[in-house]
Amino acid sequence: MYDITFKFEQKGLEPITLSGIEPDQSILEVALKNNIELHHNCGGVCACSTCHLYVEQGEDLVEELSDREEDFIDRAVNPRLNSRLGCQCVLMDGSGKISVTLPDQTQFLGE
Ligand code: FES
Repeated sequence: MYDITFKFEQKGLEPITLSGIEPDQSILEVALKNNIELHHNCGGVCACSTCHLYVEQGEDLVEELSDREEDFIDRAVNPRLNSRLGCQCVLMDGSGKISVTLPDQTQFLGE
């Protein structure tokens, strides 16, 4: 089980910490199930970059970055060293604390 903290670059949004999160799901799925806005224009199949986020803590607890994911991160707005795609950050078996920061979602159109 994981504890996941979501922080937001969008002004006015306070951090949210979710506890007891099961593995085998992506951070995108966790966000959507908990009504946290994170765009996902391709539906979570690593074919866009709108689910881009920054992993601040716990990068070892999610599946590794693939070459394909890296290509899409290069097209994201303001990529950084800790950039990942939320749909590709699948929680591995285990437990721990993960912290992510979501870019301002008001910059995206679509889902
Ligand atoms: S939702 Fe499109 S790459 Fe993650």
